[in-house]
Amino acid sequence: MSYDSFETVKVTIDGPLAIVTIQREAALNALSSTVMSELTHIAGELELSSDLRAVILTGAGDKAFVAGADIAEMVDLTPNQARAFSAMGGALANAIETSERPWIAAVNGYALGGGCELALACDFIHASDQAVFGQPEVKLGVIPGFGGTQRLARRVGVAKCKELCMTGDQIRADEALRIGLVDAVWPHAELMTKVHELAGRIAGNGPLAVAEVKRLVNEGQSTSLDAALALEQRSFGLLFGTTDQREGMAAFLAKPKRKAQFKGQ
Ligand code: CAA
Repeated sequence: MSYDSFETVKVTIDGPLAIVTIQREAALNALSSTVMSELTHIAGELELSSDLRAVILTGAGDKAFVAGADIAEMVDLTPNQARAFSAMGGALANAIETSERPWIAAVNGYALGGGCELALACDFIHASDQAVFGQPEVKLGVIPGFGGTQRLARRVGVAKCKELCMTGDQIRADEALRIGLVDAVWPHAELMTKVHELAGRIAGNGPLAVAEVKRLVNEGQSTSLDAALALEQRSFGLLFGTTDQREGMAAFLAKPKRKAQFKGQ
């Protein structure tokens, strides 16, 4: 698959990793419908790549990850069009959240509105010490439309979510770390190296197992504990039908131990 034909998104394949960069620097990488449809398409294509183990999502330039949904595109929308626009963002967030691969948001600057929501759809949010987060939609007379009221509440708690979404306050990376919105903060120049290291640590593991962990943890958030535990037991059992389970355990038991060579089968 060639990823050269996209107007607003660049995809770089680096061994088992894909680095997806939103490229609308002049508009602080704002999410236009073109960006969203290209990203959703790319997310779908990446799912078909059997060698891929993790995806890093970032924004071009030093100033913004994504400064929100595109306000210039939204200004004249009718209610029906706005609902469709919101659904486009929702579909993109779902594509990331239900991807079999871990997605890591490398937040290199502003992550506001739809940008914060895009990061929230990822499995991990790592931020540069220059990053700024917020849900400023109320300042525009609207609300978060790409999942912010829900995913943010699940991540930082109901009260903190309401505070961010009702005040529209912007918070810096260290405060975002303190409230649990981000998982790690790195000096700006080290962000991509650190995110590559995390992705690399996951990439060496059994990909079917990694995918099951993601699915079970995500689905368990909206399932009863009993049902979620039953799902875990079922998945645990099913993984014993894979070549990777045989390989992983044989590599551990070999004398001397060797590194498992997982194939995703
Ligand atoms: N949509 C469209 N264009 C945007 C944009 C956005 N969300 N954010 C920034 N831009 C554009 C600006 O219009 C400007 O373009 P021009 O040079 O053509 O004027 C360019 O990017 C640079 O921005 P600024 O001049 O504003 O840069 P700054 O350094 O002074 O401020 C900022 C940076 C604080 C991030 C400011 O740009 C800002 O507040 N952006 C909007 C943030 C926002 O409200 N996001 C939420 C959008 S609504 C949403 O996302 C809804 C949803 O949930 C679905």
